[in-house]
Amino acid sequence: MRAILCKEYGPAEKLVIEDIECPEPTGLNVKVRVKAAGLNFPDTLIIEGKYQIKPEMPFSPGGEMAGEVISVGDKVSRFKPGDRVIGMTGFGAFAEEMLVEESRLLPLPEGMSFEEGSAFTMVYGTSYHALKQRANIQPGESLLVLGASGGVGLATVELGKAMGAHVIAAASTDEKLQVAKAAGADELLNYGNTDKPLKDMIKDMTGGKGVDVIYDPVGGAFTEQALRAMAWNGRHLIIGFAAGEIPKIPANLALLKSCSVVGVFWGAFTKQEPAVHEQNMVDLMKLFADGKIKPTISEVFEFEDYEKALAALTGRKATGKVVLKVGS
Ligand SMILES: NC(=O)c1ccc[n+]([C@@H]2O[C@H](COP(=O)([O-])OP(=O)(O)OC[C@H]3O[C@@H](n4cnc5c(N)ncnc54)[C@H](OP(=O)(O)O)[C@@H]3O)[C@@H](O)[C@H]2O)c1
Repeated sequence: MRAILCKEYGPAEKLVIEDIECPEPTGLNVKVRVKAAGLNFPDTLIIEGKYQIKPEMPFSPGGEMAGEVISVGDKVSRFKPGDRVIGMTGFGAFAEEMLVEESRLLPLPEGMSFEEGSAFTMVYGTSYHALKQRANIQPGESLLVLGASGGVGLATVELGKAMGAHVIAAASTDEKLQVAKAAGADELLNYGNTDKPLKDMIKDMTGGKGVDVIYDPVGGAFTEQALRAMAWNGRHLIIGFAAGEIPKIPANLALLKSCSVVGVFWGAFTKQEPAVHEQNMVDLMKLFADGKIKPTISEVFEFEDYEKALAALTGRKATGKVVLKVGS
């Protein structure tokens, strides 16, 4: 089977496609024929050695996928050959076959395509956990989403609406903001090409009050600016640093606004609190079945075009989700 392999850290150009054997599953492992792999920003970091997880070399990137079960280990009880599944893999999904522990698999629901399934768990899982367990967001609260047309950003716009929040989508271009509007955003804020500080734009938009919850997957200079426009008792969700720089925040801002700066690490949460994670996934599948959330897949790339697919994320070009077609 073909696999996209990282044999040394570096940009996507360093990756290679090779024919390798996928071993037979034992114990709790399931062998899956990968049909589609959803791309996420961490895929661009893991191949550069800049992500918190550093797999043994050589490895395939690919944090999530959907596919079909080929065979199962002797201790597997929930899946059988032929089942259609979603996999939360962390890495390894840029390969035609892979082994996944059964606890990291979900059944692919009726009415969800392989492409949608491969683009579902990371963004909705992260954003639902962030809004529900970490921010405890309440109906009627205002929610500012930075990078609102990106993978996790767009999922947050949809979930924020589904949870009754007033959603302000912020992004760098009007085209990107239109994507957020189509996903349900109430108000739009363009932070690209402007000399006006983000803090002032948010304050103007909220009549000086500021926002109750900030969803921040961007980092860099945006973080402090957004925090300065926080409402009393607000929560600033630290999701990631797509802008490249990990910001340092003046601690007095938390004091002055009586607000919380809250970390979110979805991958670790799924392992630390498996029962809560499982319930989150049940809730998310219901929201999908009820038509309240649906992955926006902007581009599907052929397996051989993985460099272009990853460049869509690193080049700040992607909207919604980018998917790699893996098997036929
Ligand atoms: N904490 C967790 O558990 C968790 C889980 C999943 C992902 N994440 C993190 O969340 C962040 C976003 O992930 P994603 O998969 O949603 O990425 P994505 O689809 O590429 O979206 C990132 C967004 O960030 C903005 N951005 C600003 N500066 C950028 C730059 N220099 N390069 C690229 N994008 C830039 C872009 O929007 P504008 O152009 O509109 O600014 C873009 O839409 C990443 O840092 C990722 O590691 C964290």
